[in-house]
Amino acid sequence: MTVFDSIHYQDHEQVVFAADPASGLNTIIAIHSTALGPSLGGTRFYPYASEEEALADVLRLSQGMTLKAAASGLDLGGGKAVIIGDPTELKSERLWRAFGQFVDSLGGRYITAEDVGTTTEDMELVRRETRWAFGTPMSEGGSGDPSPATARGLIAGLRAVSARLRGDRDLAGLRVAIEGVGKVGYAYARFLTEARAEVIVADIDDAATERAVRDLGVKSVPPEDILSVDCDVLSPCALGGGINAETIPILGCSAIVGSANNQLATDQDAVRLAEAGILYAPDFVVNAGGLINVSHELRGYTEAGAFHQIDGIEKATARILDVAEAEGVTPNQAAIAVAQRRIDAVGGLHRFRPLRV
Ligand SMILES: NC(=O)c1ccc[n+]([C@@H]2O[C@H](COP(=O)([O-])OP(=O)(O)OC[C@H]3O[C@@H](n4cnc5c(N)ncnc54)[C@H](O)[C@@H]3O)[C@@H](O)[C@H]2O)c1
Repeated sequence: MTVFDSIHYQDHEQVVFAADPASGLNTIIAIHSTALGPSLGGTRFYPYASEEEALADVLRLSQGMTLKAAASGLDLGGGKAVIIGDPTELKSERLWRAFGQFVDSLGGRYITAEDVGTTTEDMELVRRETRWAFGTPMSEGGSGDPSPATARGLIAGLRAVSARLRGDRDLAGLRVAIEGVGKVGYAYARFLTEARAEVIVADIDDAATERAVRDLGVKSVPPEDILSVDCDVLSPCALGGGINAETIPILGCSAIVGSANNQLATDQDAVRLAEAGILYAPDFVVNAGGLINVSHELRGYTEAGAFHQIDGIEKATARILDVAEAEGVTPNQAAIAVAQRRIDAVGGLHRFRPLRV
């Protein structure tokens, strides 16, 4: 397996591997950039088919975290961890504490939190070995599950898109199709019904669909039909890569605003969407609510402070759409440019930092 030859290796600063055979821990941490501050990104615990697949994922996700933090105006860099294996079989106190020691060995260059396959309770165990673990339960003074915060940020991004689509940031009557009503999708559907939007959901897990239909009174369609549902906005809240050359021609929406990371299979899909007249709100801009929420733990978490900054995603999204229009580029290109400009402008600031000897 090679790191530097991977197509996902984008000048990452540091990629480190660790194992603890006694607990079955096999893990990779990728630090893409610390230009703006310590790298922060969750730990994904997943039964990857191979080490190559895990490496590709951690490289891709950590680069995405750099963009997300920079575009959100945070003083944080991008990093991510993956643990290879089935979380339902492997999780143990020893595994988490070994992982915590590994995170600690990086001296704060990488800060971890929960992600797919990990929970706030897991982070409590990691924290016994390192101060560089956040997203611990609210009862412990942490910021808790980031999903409702992510959903809140999606609503903010959606308001900016609604203002573009129909000249009104009010969501009443907006027709929104949600793919995946898990932790984020369900909270988002709830906020939408409270705002009197019209919601259609689909999930491959029947129990998840039934819960949304029963508790929120939303409509549902089979998962294979959700992309082509006639709607104002499609919200991918399941897995990435769903927007691609095959699916774009069948989309029934006028815009896309969703939480899934890496929604576009390739950069070219942003151009395809623009050609199809579909407004795309870049995923790493509108799904930053969870990251913003957890970043507030670094300075002492208050919900009011975090939520205020998360609501700023509305303005950030509107700005990206403005830049895209003014510069004649796709919103995805505009968002990458905005993030990169911040890294270039502030990332080089070291004038008065004391020299380390
Ligand atoms: N949790 C967060 O705070 C957060 C933050 C940023 C980004 N994200 C991203 O948002 C997405 C959702 O995260 P989550 O925490 O809600 O995960 P989750 O696992 O709780 O929910 C995902 C849901 O999607 C469903 N699903 C999977 N494939 C599907 C398909 N093909 N069609 C329809 N439904 C499908 C699953 O059954 C599940 O109910 C992920 O891509 C995640 O990386 C999450």
